[in-house]
Parts: sequence; C-alpha cells; structure tokens
Amino acid sequence: MSSRKPEISLKSPSEIEKMRVAGALAAQVLEYIGPFVVAGVTTGELDDRMLDYIENTQHAKSADLGYEGYPKATCISVNEVVCHGIPGVQRLRNGDIVNIDVTVLKDGYHGDTSKMYIVGGHTSLRNELLVKCTQESMYAAIKTVRPGSNLTEIGDAIQKIADRYKFSIVRDYCGHGIGLGFHEDPQVLHYRNNYDLLIEKGMCFTIEPMINAGTSKCRINHKNGWTVTTADHQPSAQFEHTLLVTDDGCEILTLRKDEDFPRFIHH
Ligand code: MF3
Ligand code: CO
Ligand code: CO
Repeated sequence: MSSRKPEISLKSPSEIEKMRVAGALAAQVLEYIGPFVVAGVTTGELDDRMLDYIENTQHAKSADLGYEGYPKATCISVNEVVCHGIPGVQRLRNGDIVNIDVTVLKDGYHGDTSKMYIVGGHTSLRNELLVKCTQESMYAAIKTVRPGSNLTEIGDAIQKIADRYKFSIVRDYCGHGIGLGFHEDPQVLHYRNNYDLLIEKGMCFTIEPMINAGTSKCRINHKNGWTVTTADHQPSAQFEHTLLVTDDGCEILTLRKDEDFPRFIHH
C-alpha cells in the first residue's frame, strides 16, 4: 500500500459517456462467452473467441493483451487460481468454478469486469457458497458507494460478509481507479482497513473482491510471472464491476442482463 497522495481523475460528462460504452462492451463479452463455458473446452479456446468478438464485433481492443507483457486477451482463473490465470491448454471439467476477467479498451477508455461461471451448473456446496459469498460481498460494497462516503466502507462491507461465511479475503490484490488508465488511483482495498479517502462524484473505480475458501495467502507462478494461486490450493472466487460515482450514489457501468441487481444505487 503506497502512502503518496493519490491522483484521482474526476470524469467529465463526455468522458462518462465513453466509460459507459467501454463498460457495456466489457459486460457484453461476459454475456457472449457464457454459452461456451462448458466441459471439454480449453481456456485458450475461450480466450480466442473473446478476442475475436472484441476486435471484430465490438471494434474495440483487449486492454490485457500486451499489458506489462501479458500474453493473452483475458484472464481465466480456474478453481484454486485466484487471478491472472493465463488461458491455454487447460480443459474445463464439470464442477470447475471459473472466473473470466475482461478489460475492454474503446475510444481511449477502459471497462473492467469479471464473473464466476460454474461448469455444468453444479459444483460442491462449499464452492457454491464461496461463489455466492463473493458476489454478495461485491454487491454489499457497491451499495456503500456515494459522494461523501469513505473508501473504508467498501472493505468493511466485504469483511462483514466474508467473516459470516468463514472465508478469507485476498490482501495482495485490490480494486483500482479506471479511465484513460487501466489502473488509476485510488487503490480499493477489499478487507477492513484505515485507508481513509472520501469518495467524490465523477470518480470511476472497480470493486473486485477475491475470496478464498482456505487461507488468504497467495503464491505467484514463477514460471510465467502472472498466475496467482492460493497457497493451500483451496478454491478462490472473484467478481468485478466498474463503477461511476453519481450525485446520490453510483452507477454500475458493467452491469449484465443476467444480474438481479439495479444499475443505479440512490441514497
Ligand atoms: N483485469 C485485471 C484487473 O481487474 C487486470 C488484468 S491485467 C493482466 O485489474 F495483464 F493480467 F491481464
Ligand atoms: Co480491475
Ligand atoms: Co479485471
């Protein structure tokens, strides 16, 4: 956690319109790929499909591809992989829990979102609870966001729910401001913390909790330098949305049709 003063960009009306477009495109990639997330498919095949869709249907770009040398268009993180799973030869099996994280770049602006898929529709009770806990905690955190609220309320909301389920919250990765930059200030911590920062209208940032069934500790794959797994190889789940802070709450820029949650939160 850096202690320098954060440089937070407040988005103008024309920038907000571009953020809406980028967010909608990112959400549409997750809607589009859903029917293909089935047993037997490889994560590399899913990535190829999403890249084709982003470039040739959406006429946009993947922000992941080439980002600090990242080799693929999306991140696909299966079971004990926490985040930054590199798509490849791994074949999905029934009962796998899979996070797909997509960041689309359109007209200079980024939209960043991820969701969990359960391959075949059924998994262990523990996995189901883990996925449910993670999505619930993200929604609870989103509900705190309004002008004048504190960034710390996000971590509080997530922590309360993770504690109730007796799962652990990843501390090594956080949410982030987003806009012209993929990862802007501020850092958005997902656990109870003292990083006091007042939220203002026009801010855009992600909330993207990673929650583990076992230990919160993570390991990075030293062969590829990217893939993060749980230290104890127990499963992990993540959901992510990109938000805009409005006059009286927030707008979920990456909301999908399959979600039973409002686009606008009013306080
Ligand atoms: N989408 C991730 C995030 O939520 C970042 C992925 S960077 C990559 O911030 F290089 F791994 F693709
Ligand atoms: Co993100
Ligand atoms: Co992301």
